[in-house]
Amino acid sequence: MAKPLRVGIVGAGFAARFHWKGYRKVYDVPIELVGVTSKTAETREAFAREFGCQAFSSFEELCDHSDVVDICAPGFLHERLAVAGLERGKHVIVEKPFTGYYGPPGREVEENFRGNAFPKDKMLTEAIASCDRVLQAAGNSGQRIGYAENWVYAPAIQKEREILTKSGGQILWLIGDESHSGSHSPYYGIWKFSGGGALVGKGCHPLTAALYLKRAEGQSRDGKPIRPATVSARTHEITRLSDFRDAGFLRTSYDDIEDYGQMHVTFSDGTVADIFATELALGGVHNWLEVFANNHRTRCNLNPINALQTYNPREELFKDVYVTEKIGTKQGWSQPAPDEDWQHGYPQEFQDFAESFQGNREPLSGGELARDTIGVLYSAYVSAERKGLEVEIPL
Ligand SMILES: NC(=O)c1ccc[n+]([C@@H]2O[C@H](COP(=O)([O-])OP(=O)(O)OC[C@H]3O[C@@H](n4cnc5c(N)ncnc54)[C@H](O)[C@@H]3O)[C@@H](O)[C@H]2O)c1
Repeated sequence: MAKPLRVGIVGAGFAARFHWKGYRKVYDVPIELVGVTSKTAETREAFAREFGCQAFSSFEELCDHSDVVDICAPGFLHERLAVAGLERGKHVIVEKPFTGYYGPPGREVEENFRGNAFPKDKMLTEAIASCDRVLQAAGNSGQRIGYAENWVYAPAIQKEREILTKSGGQILWLIGDESHSGSHSPYYGIWKFSGGGALVGKGCHPLTAALYLKRAEGQSRDGKPIRPATVSARTHEITRLSDFRDAGFLRTSYDDIEDYGQMHVTFSDGTVADIFATELALGGVHNWLEVFANNHRTRCNLNPINALQTYNPREELFKDVYVTEKIGTKQGWSQPAPDEDWQHGYPQEFQDFAESFQGNREPLSGGELARDTIGVLYSAYVSAERKGLEVEIPL
């Protein structure tokens, strides 16, 4: 039997929980979940109690016990932790956003930094440089990067990849969206922690799935990925408008980020993608990508899906029933997710990372795809600053 792959998790919040559960479903590659570290003893010890693992008081100590460090901490820490893990000879898994721009260097966080007022071309240059430092560290160490973009692994996206590549199709236009009523994380909504707003926090998901499918199209045709070339974008801060009427259903406590974003991406072959991301959607997460190809058309629904349609006459009847992420109310008709983690691609993601790290092959979602995503997102901010002018993506 192969030696278990020892995995240590950084962060003890929302993402750390679904990562932990995802590893438990990995088959064929033995996994040993060694433990967790986080900012406070209280959170890591609570996590360790809940999952029966060790709480490590430092990142270094966690690394010493791990073959893989899985970074589920806020975005402003991703580069530093990923480089430190790679330099210690560990494979790293990095949650989205891969990295980005979080304020001028120097102090860990710059108190007076306001992302929405900061020059975006500077952000773009620095965000790409940050990606390159992580990729360089991986190159130097010979270890691998798993970019935890679960949409790449969602069964709906993987099925479309199969349809696309087996039918020899050309994608002409993609349109997709990730929206909901606002993130739970206290770090979200403050640029110096999250690296941006709806575009970076939510738009990254359908964007990376679109980039992945166009890469797959090119690779299957002639071995060359089709990559993004330009982007035009708009962003807005709708819940901070003076005329916004707060009815109490949306999160509104954002500091210096956009809560609405749209990107129009052109690829090197001239085809296009339109990606939307907002914090303005009631009724649960709204995650989908539609593919218009020259020989087929596919609607990839990640959430909601209609495997179940349930009518509940009274809210309290479903008080112990999980329906879907961010649903708000469970009364009336809903579409409960039979296995939300599966439809989001989480267990499939950890399966691929485990096989990649053990078998010495690149994961489906790795550093190159992550870097393209960051390049598009921060070029989109440059465009939005110029009210939608087309910007070349410096890849
Ligand atoms: N792929 C997805 O669907 C998805 C969903 C949610 C979050 N995320 C990503 O996961 C990451 C974490 O988000 P979250 O929702 O779990 O946030 P969270 O606020 O729930 O948890 C963040 C955790 O990071 C820890 N942390 C903060 N500073 C730290 C430090 N210096 N060292 C070690 N740990 C530290 C905190 O203690 C906390 O446990 C973010 O990058 C986020 O974008 C991805």
